Amino acid sequence: MARIVAVYSMKGGVGKTTIAANLAYASAVTSSLKTLLWDIDAQGAASFLYAQERPGGKAKRLFSRDVEPSQLIEPTRWPGLDLLAADLSLRHLDQTLTEAEKPNRLRKLLQSLASSYECIILDCPPGLGEISDQLFRAVDIIVVPVPPTPLAMRSLTLVEEHLARNHARQPILLLVLSMVDRRKTMHRDLAAAHADWPVIPQASIVERMALERAPLASYAASTPAAKAFAELWLAVEASLGAEPALKAKQPDRALARIPKAAKRKTPKGH
Ligand SMILES: Nc1ncnc2c1ncn2[C@@H]1O[C@H](COP(=O)(O)OP(=O)(O)O)[C@@H](O)[C@H]1O
Ligand SMILES: [Mg+2]
Repeated sequence: MARIVAVYSMKGGVGKTTIAANLAYASAVTSSLKTLLWDIDAQGAASFLYAQERPGGKAKRLFSRDVEPSQLIEPTRWPGLDLLAADLSLRHLDQTLTEAEKPNRLRKLLQSLASSYECIILDCPPGLGEISDQLFRAVDIIVVPVPPTPLAMRSLTLVEEHLARNHARQPILLLVLSMVDRRKTMHRDLAAAHADWPVIPQASIVERMALERAPLASYAASTPAAKAFAELWLAVEASLGAEPALKAKQPDRALARIPKAAKRKTPKGH
């Protein structure tokens, strides 16, 4: 029965994809959990990092239920880690879900995957709309990267107020100081003010992930940033309570046919 972790922020460029990709690796490889990284951001950055195939343009059809998840899930180079890739067809997903008047579409899709995985990590688009409302109702934990800047703190406050006003069930928010540069006074001050939040340092080795197309721990495991992602995964595991948010329903049997691990193939473009 999968535990569901969303990496989400109202803001873009705060480290969501980087965190989601590294957490997914830690879940699959460090904790040996059968893990799915589900990219629901039309930018497809997590898919770019881990996909071995070119995106097929069908991601939106998952949400209209014209395509089963098993038809789009692919193995990655990392044992135990599968990917459900995004592509540009998701660029109007918020509007599509609103117009479809299916407030539990994301929850139902997650339910159909939940019995085939032990952990599902969602890399979410920025924004505060229908997608995030559906997420807030469906997931166990929301990891929220917050760079130590006043505007990032403000957008976190907006999300917290929205949750308090509009959601009866309050999901667990795991707040993370991301891209922390301790040479900056403001970063040091805000980090001191939130000393109990996990910290991910700003480091150029992290940016290399997009060149390596691999998790940080696979090419720079001994760096402080890689250790910070490993510690963040421990914090996520510790925050997952005993009761999953979802009960499994209609397992997607075709998932059994997905090969367990894959050899490195050269991605066909992107
Ligand atoms: N800890 C970090 N140190 C340095 N660069 C980072 C770090 N986290 C993310 N980045 C870089 O910042 C940019 C935005 O990160 P990304 O994870 O794509 O954010 P988001 O998914 O929130 O838009 C990317 O170029 C990424 O490589
Ligand atoms: Mg992203």
